[in-house]
Amino acid sequence: MLYFSALCVYFLMVPNPVMTNTITEDIDVLVFLPQNNSYLFSYTRVSPAIRYAQQRLKTDGGQSSGFRFNIQFENSDCVYDALFKLVDRSCGRKPDLILGPVCEYEAAAVVRLASHWNIPVITAGALATGFSNKNTEFSHLTRIAPSYVKMAETFTAMFEHFAWKKALLVYEDDKEERNCYFTLEGVYHLMADFTIKPYPFSKEDPLDTDDILQNIADTEGNAVSNSRLHQIKFI
Ligand SMILES: *[C@@H]1O[C@H](CO)[C@@H](O)[C@H](O)[C@H]1NC(C)=O
Repeated sequence: MLYFSALCVYFLMVPNPVMTNTITEDIDVLVFLPQNNSYLFSYTRVSPAIRYAQQRLKTDGGQSSGFRFNIQFENSDCVYDALFKLVDRSCGRKPDLILGPVCEYEAAAVVRLASHWNIPVITAGALATGFSNKNTEFSHLTRIAPSYVKMAETFTAMFEHFAWKKALLVYEDDKEERNCYFTLEGVYHLMADFTIKPYPFSKEDPLDTDDILQNIADTEGNAVSNSRLHQIKFI
């Protein structure tokens, strides 16, 4: 629900109330959502919220704002679809605003191109640490969900509160969308002052619990020899 309501709220904030109603300006909005139904942000789940926002803008705010929002939905396959659609679409008239895509790699390509063309992008995704670079390649990106670095701030606060020093980050790296990798990358990036050890596993290289236990034992050995209290947490 967070995605829906956040998208909706932002969308409703877009019109500028100072505008008079003498001019009607068309705003072309290009929305990238997966047709594949297996995502939290799939077309069937998110598009009703966008349609609702469009309807509300038309009836409540549209006439006074002077903006008319035209919405075009395109598929996002979490790989290249959104980029190719944006390029094809922009051979004619470029969109004024892009919503999505959510998936990290796909968003990276789209946001780079959109920023180059001065087209704002609003997305509930693109949460990886690299997107924080707002000076150049991702200058036109607005993220409406907390990025992974924000999540890492929560962990940092927990570590400070409990005086934890070390962590083993156990995560699955699917080598495709890599959501778990990007999630923990934020933690790794922000918590440089702590001893953080990444421990990836994948289909080809499955989780080895004996190895994890060995890692814990090694770390605890170290802790004893240092005569200090160390704790290990699984995230
Ligand atoms: C939909 O996405 C899931 C998750 O990425 C994938 O496993 C599945 O094969 C996709 N389905 C189709 C029809 O592409």
